[in-house]
Amino acid sequence: MFTIENKELKCEFEIPAFGMGTWMMGGETERDAGNNGDADAAALIAGLERGLTHIDTAEMYAAGFAEEIVGRAIAGRKRSNLFITSKVWDTNLSYDGVLRAAEGSLKRIKTDYLDLYLIHKPNNDIPLKDSIRALDRLRSEKIIRSIGVSNFAVKRLAHAQALSDHKIVANQVHYNLTFREPEVSGMLDYCSRNDIMLIAWRPLQKGALPADSAAFLQPLCEKYHKTLYQIALNWLISQPGVATISTMRNPSHLDENLGALGWEMDKSDIEFIREKFPEQQSVSDIVPLS
Ligand SMILES: NC(=O)c1ccc[n+]([C@@H]2O[C@H](COP(=O)([O-])OP(=O)(O)OC[C@H]3O[C@@H](n4cnc5c(N)ncnc54)[C@H](OP(=O)(O)O)[C@@H]3O)[C@@H](O)[C@H]2O)c1
Repeated sequence: MFTIENKELKCEFEIPAFGMGTWMMGGETERDAGNNGDADAAALIAGLERGLTHIDTAEMYAAGFAEEIVGRAIAGRKRSNLFITSKVWDTNLSYDGVLRAAEGSLKRIKTDYLDLYLIHKPNNDIPLKDSIRALDRLRSEKIIRSIGVSNFAVKRLAHAQALSDHKIVANQVHYNLTFREPEVSGMLDYCSRNDIMLIAWRPLQKGALPADSAAFLQPLCEKYHKTLYQIALNWLISQPGVATISTMRNPSHLDENLGALGWEMDKSDIEFIREKFPEQQSVSDIVPLS
């Protein structure tokens, strides 16, 4: 059983450095009729039993079914030992829409609060002040413990904070060895200066890091006796104010990724990877910050 280190902010927000994602569990944007969720729930339970406590989900994943799978996985566990994040989809960002979405997520997850609730991605057609007012209410009523956003650019994040009575503690963004938009856009620096956690999604680029990354990282894999993916995850969480989540339906991926925790690379190696890792992209190819 691993004890997962928490990442902490000065504002006292804490989140496990590494957690489990649920994208593709139970379906994609719609529920997969051929997937009853049992194997996905078992994968989450396997992670919980190994000491992981953070599960990241969203109402959009499998049209709510991923949240039901999370509910199954956490059933009977002490809620205060868990950290559950969910997200409100961009079409539900009106004041009433956010309140209704949160209620739906709680029902599907079978919990009475969320540790972190994120705006999944911006929607220019719905005033941000309405969404934030609803999040502030949920936070004041302790239905959510913390407010966050996802895929927000610096300007929008600053605007969201100006609108909010409560601190916005996190921005969840596409960040890994290849996709460096948070570095290039100034988001990483902004989060660090403003005491905001950067949660990296797609930390392993879905297991598809560029072909020449294996050769590049080989000397470090040998130096630390770690695999490419363990180096990739460790590099992310070695950075102050950065936490991450990976999807691991395959038990061998869970085993491998847990080996990314509990050790540190030399600072010079961390910076060498930052500067020299091959084929870096400056903008997300999936959801660019906006
Ligand atoms: N906010 C957003 O807009 C947003 C966007 C995307 C994702 N997310 C969140 O972030 C989580 C993680 O992102 P992600 O799933 O896109 O990316 P990821 O964790 O980089 O990739 C997961 C994929 O890589 C495989 N994998 C995991 N560990 C591996 C390893 N050690 N070696 C080789 N392959 C490995 C997994 O396979 P198996 O599943 O078969 O083990 C899965 O297919 C999601 O589940 C979701 O919760 C948020």
